[in-house]
Amino acid sequence: MPRPIVCLAPLQGYTNAAYRRVHFDAVGGIDYYYTPFVRWEKGGLRNKDLRDIDPKVNAGIPVVPQVIARDCDELRHLCDELQALGWRRIDINMGCPFPMQTGAGRGCGLLSHPDIVASILEETRRRPEVAFSVKMRLGQKDNTEAQQLLPILNETPLENITLHPRIGRQQYRGKPDIEAFSDFYKGCKKPLIYNGDITTREDIERILQAFPALHGVMIGRGLLANPTMLLPELTDDERLSRLLQMHDYFFVKAQSSLQGDQQLLTHLHAFWQYPQKMIPKKTHKELMKTSSLRNYLSAVESLRK
Ligand SMILES: Cc1cc2nc3c(=O)[nH]c(=O)nc-3n(C[C@H](O)[C@H](O)[C@H](O)COP(=O)(O)O)c2cc1C
Repeated sequence: MPRPIVCLAPLQGYTNAAYRRVHFDAVGGIDYYYTPFVRWEKGGLRNKDLRDIDPKVNAGIPVVPQVIARDCDELRHLCDELQALGWRRIDINMGCPFPMQTGAGRGCGLLSHPDIVASILEETRRRPEVAFSVKMRLGQKDNTEAQQLLPILNETPLENITLHPRIGRQQYRGKPDIEAFSDFYKGCKKPLIYNGDITTREDIERILQAFPALHGVMIGRGLLANPTMLLPELTDDERLSRLLQMHDYFFVKAQSSLQGDQQLLTHLHAFWQYPQKMIPKKTHKELMKTSSLRNYLSAVESLRK
């Protein structure tokens, strides 16, 4: 059996192109970096999204761009744009639980509409040159919606499916529903990737033991909290040093593209939000709260040994 793959989950506002680049350069060990979803808005892609999926910016990194679409029409536009940029892998978001998207019928708002899902997935057949994948939840309102879609999913030419075993209404509350994941796993004929609440290598082992036919795992918050999680050989000092290395690249990139200290600091706060356990509590508070770039930099300096 091939080695299970490990993917970085897309997190809007966190795993942007600069983050993916600094993780790839300073840490690595990830098979695929998914981009946060890009969407169709006012007849095009937003400039911010275009910058994030610019192939030049992502060169050399195994990146999978993700799209979110309400129907086949939106998906068609998004695929045209992405293919014109040169992308040949596209992930379709059917899992986003945020009311702004589900209310418009996107993300996990699609899961209770098998007819729309079918017509969206039909589009993948018209584009055999693209390797499509789907990232989804168990459902929006009940945990059998994804399972009911299995006949359609199994018939669609998909590279893989990532399943996050919660329903949309839960957002990220409660525990992943492993039983419902297991039901989906049993009926799924596509390479399946598990996603949800993985924070250690032991968690990965446990999931792979419980589901030996898994294609891989996708990790989001756990990797943001500890970007070197996958490297067992590192000491705590080495982990911190890699985190600071990532920070330093990230800082330079952010400084070159953002204007003004406030904008820069807001961006940097996102970098520090998750890895709070890797640094002293007091320093974390200072990094997250300060509105002075000078104080920010001195807090970062205090972390260097
Ligand atoms: C702030 C935030 C933004 C997210 N943005 C996206 C997104 O753009 N696309 C997507 O498929 N999932 C998105 N997710 C869901 C994550 O990809 C992932 O499924 C979720 O965090 C659970 O995995 P984890 O427990 O490993 O973090 C987001 C989650 C959070 C918390």
